[in-house]
Amino acid sequence: MNVLITGGAGFIGSHLADALLRRGDSVAVLDNLSTGSAENIRALDGRPGFSFTHAALDDGPVLDRLARRADAIVHLAAAVGVHLILDRPTQAIETNVLGSHALLDAARRYGCRTLIASTSEVYGKSKAVPFSEDADLVFGPPNRTRWVYGVTKLLDEFLALAAHQEHGLPLTIMRFFNVVGPRQTGRFGMVLPRFVRQALLGQPLTVYGDGRQTRCFCHVTDIVRAIVILLDQPMSQAEIFNVGSDHEVTIGELAEQIIERADSSSPIRYLPYEEAYAAGFEDLRRRVPDISKIAAEIGWTPTYLLPKILDDMIDFERNRMT
Ligand SMILES: NC(=O)c1ccc[n+]([C@@H]2O[C@H](COP(=O)([O-])OP(=O)(O)OC[C@H]3O[C@@H](n4cnc5c(N)ncnc54)[C@H](O)[C@@H]3O)[C@@H](O)[C@H]2O)c1
Repeated sequence: MNVLITGGAGFIGSHLADALLRRGDSVAVLDNLSTGSAENIRALDGRPGFSFTHAALDDGPVLDRLARRADAIVHLAAAVGVHLILDRPTQAIETNVLGSHALLDAARRYGCRTLIASTSEVYGKSKAVPFSEDADLVFGPPNRTRWVYGVTKLLDEFLALAAHQEHGLPLTIMRFFNVVGPRQTGRFGMVLPRFVRQALLGQPLTVYGDGRQTRCFCHVTDIVRAIVILLDQPMSQAEIFNVGSDHEVTIGELAEQIIERADSSSPIRYLPYEEAYAAGFEDLRRRVPDISKIAAEIGWTPTYLLPKILDDMIDFERNRMT
């Protein structure tokens, strides 16, 4: 299969490119290297069936050329990371909405099978934990920039579903929950790589809020396995799937476990949300997926437990720092 991965030089995309090439697919990556990096795909350079195009989603002719050759598209390119969204909301809206619109246009022109990356953030501040795909979505007011990411990704879902309904686009939507693993960078506010780096440098691990908020972390290898299985499924129904781990850990416990496993003497420092982000920042206490739908439909459940995830990230970060 010829697969186009938008955002393929990013964290999840580069692991997906590895996996698809390994099973014999051809992979074309489109990426503007804004948060991704050429380093992530350096090892793939020169591999038969691999190509990289340094361009953005708004480059219509390039997008058209790549979509024309693709049997399937995995759309991962997006503005991601809390800090990036809070600092540059216009850019985030343009990338996530106009970029996805352009991508979907190209995909439907050539009838490409299309997988769209969405996010647990579309559940907003819903308290109906665990979140199931048909649950109501609850956002805060628009003068809180915090909701830009979730709302723009939700609009992507609507755009994609409209393309399916009106033009028969073969479609699957994946709502990822916290994905972690080697190559993820802490530069844009992702908690786990940031903690690991702080622990290895002997710096305080900065926990935002009281540390009792929980998250569920899923290893990127498990996520890529889900994407690869979903790519081969029929897409006539335009299904939405939660994809993530349902094992909860508090952020305070996470910091403690990282310190212990990295053999670090770093202290933990608690920072109010207002200092970490902006006044009035609303965090979510729990964000847990109901993964019974994807388990029933394709037999997927995560296999990596938290200790193994942490060891993998600590090893990766140690190597990167030496
Ligand atoms: N990592 C997670 O925990 C997580 C959770 C939920 C959803 N997601 C979604 O998964 C996808 C991949 O996320 P990731 O964690 O790999 O992030 P990432 O930042 O590593 O990957 C995104 C990639 O898109 C590229 N990109 C951004 N804007 C672009 C544009 N206009 N044109 C072309 N390329 C562009 C970036 O350079 C980067 O390589 C995103 O859509 C994100 O919203 C990720």
